[in-house]
Amino acid sequence: MIQVSIPVLGDEEKRAILEVVDSGQLAQGPRVEMFERGFAAMCGVKHAIATSSGTTALQTAILAHGIGPGDEVITTPFTFIASANAILVSGAKPVFVDIDACTYNIDPGLIEQSITPRTKAILPVHLFGYPADMESIMDIASRHGLAVIEDACQAHGASIGKQKVGSFGTGCFSFYPTKNMTTAEGGIVTTDDDEVADRARLVRNHGQRQRYYHESIGFNFRMTEIQAAIGIVQLAKLERFTSVRRQNAGYLSERLRGVITPTESPGYYHVYHQYTVRVSEHRDLLADRLREFGIATGIYYPVPVHKQVAYQKLGYQDHLPVAEEAAQQVLSLPVHPMLSQADLGKIVEGVNDRWS
Ligand SMILES: Cc1ncc(COP(=O)(O)O)c(C=O)c1O
Repeated sequence: MIQVSIPVLGDEEKRAILEVVDSGQLAQGPRVEMFERGFAAMCGVKHAIATSSGTTALQTAILAHGIGPGDEVITTPFTFIASANAILVSGAKPVFVDIDACTYNIDPGLIEQSITPRTKAILPVHLFGYPADMESIMDIASRHGLAVIEDACQAHGASIGKQKVGSFGTGCFSFYPTKNMTTAEGGIVTTDDDEVADRARLVRNHGQRQRYYHESIGFNFRMTEIQAAIGIVQLAKLERFTSVRRQNAGYLSERLRGVITPTESPGYYHVYHQYTVRVSEHRDLLADRLREFGIATGIYYPVPVHKQVAYQKLGYQDHLPVAEEAAQQVLSLPVHPMLSQADLGKIVEGVNDRWS
């Protein structure tokens, strides 16, 4: 079976893990700092604060911006639920704005009508590795005095022009095993803002600068040395991983028929965390047939966040037609760097033949 995504780890990662075991220092230490410096440099920002997951990176960023009860944060309903849950657990309210039908990212043209006096931030998601329209989002945010927290959990190294995602506002990344680079579990917050960085470090580590002196309420959201050791090796491979993903995506986009392939506007650099096509009819049938043919696919996401039972119980009644339709039609095909030429050929054959 051709898997839809797999972690790519080798001997260098194994050696890096063993070095940590031998060093005796397992919790946050010098490797975490080194990983943070490397990741900040990759994004082109001053600070990176490593965390235990992408979810805790989002929670850290939201709390570091002082967002809490009574506040609203505008976000997309077409995402992994953690983007919205991180807002909820801070005590603030996620306000969902529909998406653009081509990019699957938040539609900037619909944001302003959802801004209220309680709005504190916009939280776009760079879904599938494709940057949200940050020029429009940053313009709206600056006109309304709002913070921008980018959920870049799927978009390591993606950019618009020369600017990397995670450097427009405060960035949040995930290093879950299937992401474009991994630390097993892990996350990171990126920012140019000294104060946000300082508060993020406090949130991550129980509000303490000095051990057992707590100046604010925080959590244990720390990354371990083992995670960071893997991350240092993976970060060095990221560019190569991304370029193979992009080649694979190019191969598929040139050849696939009967489905709508991903868009990439001029200046936008897609890192293809997922290669997601739109299938206007019989999406589930195509997925079943591909599975029979030996090709695994993924549906990200079958239910938009506002339609999830957990959010219905909270009283969300939004009708967001573009996201709701996308949820019925999207299908992610394998694009990861371990695909062989034969695998790519089989995916094309599988999709094109299933329609004939
Ligand atoms: C868009 C998005 N946001 C947030 C997360 C949460 O990251 P993690 O699984 O590392 O907590 C993920 C990853 O699954 C994601 O894809």
